[in-house]
Amino acid sequence: MQAWVIGNWKQNPATSHDVKALLDDLLTAVSSKEQSDIAACQLMVAPSFIHLTAVNERLKGSSVLCAAQDISAHSASTGAYTGDCSAQQIADAGATWTILGHSERRQYHQESHDCLLQKMTHALTQNLGVIFCIGETQAQYDAKQTLAVIDAQLAVIKDLLTQQPELIEGLPARLIIAYEPVWAIGTGKVPTVAEVSATHQHIKQTLASFNAALDNMTVLYGGSVNADNADSFAADSMIDGALVGGASLKAESFLAIAQAFSRAMA
Ligand code: PGA
Repeated sequence: MQAWVIGNWKQNPATSHDVKALLDDLLTAVSSKEQSDIAACQLMVAPSFIHLTAVNERLKGSSVLCAAQDISAHSASTGAYTGDCSAQQIADAGATWTILGHSERRQYHQESHDCLLQKMTHALTQNLGVIFCIGETQAQYDAKQTLAVIDAQLAVIKDLLTQQPELIEGLPARLIIAYEPVWAIGTGKVPTVAEVSATHQHIKQTLASFNAALDNMTVLYGGSVNADNADSFAADSMIDGALVGGASLKAESFLAIAQAFSRAMA
């Protein structure tokens, strides 16, 4: 097994110059560590659409993968959808994965079940892997609704397989779930490792109940993961890696998180 540590750059950095500097730092650190302390970790970064091509060019020949942060729900290829970017265009820019259903997309763009079902179908039919984000709000957490919320969000995958059973082919290798409690994102607040572990176990069991091929799927934790708390999450066997926002914008903290997960795999 390998761990996954994925950097969600969100709407950062501000300039292509800063993107290049971040990548330079990251690749210098990765090449000096390649064979050793991050060996059990697959790294990935998710830049803005505008930076995808340049980032992919720069990552060629390295072990670091590249994801988009979203794709169009309307068409997998082309069409009159101003402002959108399709799965085909993302793949053509060199990305091999996309994040879908991040809570900021759900919140600011009202992404619904049907919208995410469309996006997931488009991604998979264009051979993009999907990092599917799920998680409860603070109010839902307080009301002890976490598992019910997660079940409703995971139903996108159930419906996908009901509508297009053929998509199960290759899905285990092309789907990663990121459990991100909304209240933990960018706040410095984190659930306990025991809470995350129990939720991940529930997610894995739910996916396996959809189809036996989805047994023991990769489930990442996201929400205020940093160099200081990564070890505690990494130590739990239910936590297969991290989706990292703020701490992915510095090569040093991003790599420290990767080292923590890599150490835990050893
Ligand atoms: P954070 O963001 O690490 O800054 O909390 C995580 C995410 O939104 O994926």
